Amino acid sequence: MKTQRDRFSGKIGYVLAVAGSAVGLGNIWRFPYLAAKYGGGMFLLVYLILMLTFGYALIVSETALGRMTQKSPIGAFLTFGKSRGHRFGGWINAIIPMLIVPYYSVIGGWVLKYLFEYLRGNVQELAADSYFTGFTSSATEMELWFLLFAVLVFAVIFAGVKKGVEMISKIMMPLLVVLAVIVAIYSVTRPGAMAGVKYFLIPDLENFSWMTVVAAMGQMFYSLSIAMGILYTYGSYMKKDIDIEASTKQVELFDTGIAVLAGLMVIPAVFAFSGGDAAALQAGPSLMFITLPKVFASMGFGTGAGILFFLLVLFAALTSAISLMESCVSTFVDQTGWSRRRSTGVMVVVMVVLGSASALGFNILGFVRIFGMSILDFFDFLTNSVMMPIAALATCALILKVVGLSNIAKEVQISSAFKRRNMYNFCMKYIAPVFLVIILLSSIANVLGWITM
Ligand code: TRP
Repeated sequence: MKTQRDRFSGKIGYVLAVAGSAVGLGNIWRFPYLAAKYGGGMFLLVYLILMLTFGYALIVSETALGRMTQKSPIGAFLTFGKSRGHRFGGWINAIIPMLIVPYYSVIGGWVLKYLFEYLRGNVQELAADSYFTGFTSSATEMELWFLLFAVLVFAVIFAGVKKGVEMISKIMMPLLVVLAVIVAIYSVTRPGAMAGVKYFLIPDLENFSWMTVVAAMGQMFYSLSIAMGILYTYGSYMKKDIDIEASTKQVELFDTGIAVLAGLMVIPAVFAFSGGDAAALQAGPSLMFITLPKVFASMGFGTGAGILFFLLVLFAALTSAISLMESCVSTFVDQTGWSRRRSTGVMVVVMVVLGSASALGFNILGFVRIFGMSILDFFDFLTNSVMMPIAALATCALILKVVGLSNIAKEVQISSAFKRRNMYNFCMKYIAPVFLVIILLSSIANVLGWITM
């Protein structure tokens, strides 16, 4: 029996839905700290090049496959064959969100905690250098805020108020952009901030290392939600008359715009408040939570700005976490025949176990180091630098060996001129496979300590 699939109403609806899921902690929290760490302007340049070639080709591929097969990734892979390879290709795409959503929720918990503290008016305390480490070293605090965020996610999943969330995010997203512009302008005009603007926007070859490419590639996958099956699912909800090429361009523009704004909020502030010392730039995942409170504390209306900012980030994080979770739950429902309830129950267990491990890795499990990384960093690395290149390779292999580039072109051309077809084919045939293998091998070699990058 065939049931009619839900569909996005039109192009705007599609672009907003994809952009809404793409814009999240990846843009506001992850992008600035990676850019600060891996070479500033050089990182930005590499990111932009990868996004316009690779990222573009992969988004088009996944969306076209989803729309062609009318299925989520596992179903899409199995449409073209039932062999082990197909099963593997589908599942690796589907498992990645299950590993991301727990640690994503730990960071979501940090956002919730900071929002709570701003509501209590603790604007000066939050700006202290040791505040963040004090917070993360408390096991109860970390676990509490992670669980609160997780409860919010599951509450929405259970209540099924997805429509309401979508409506709210249509209001919140533009607000977030306006606020980000204001904070970015404030941050960029602090004394000493210009050095940070230069560092972030002007590429300097000295800052280039192979890790710049590896990190930029992982970030591109993460931020655009590529190589984890999500876009297959969105593609399957897409009407045949929506222009895949144009909507891909718009999603990329929107997502990158917000990431760059976030970079302008955070990186110049690091220079202004720490004199641009190299150690501050290396702060990693905590960067946003250390520098932005300093910006807010120095602003006239810091408490208000802090509340508004973390509220908006919370919404961006929640909508992304909900759609990540939704895709995990529907994978179970589709593939195992379990009820929605039971599938959600399984995800509750996965969430609590893996999320708690990530949260406690900062304190009582602090002795656990996996290849020298904390638990949260390890999950981030495993998904972004190892599994996503493999998932992307699986998609390339499916297209090159089974579906054929011409069939993808046919699907895209139903609704689009496919002006970049030659670029697309070139990317898929030559660049993507070679590059993905190199990225994968070098990130594995890096953790095993065979090479230092
Ligand atoms: N792209 C999101 C961000 O930038 C995170 C994310 C990764 C995501 N995969 C997803 C969101 C799948 C929704 C669905 O934060």
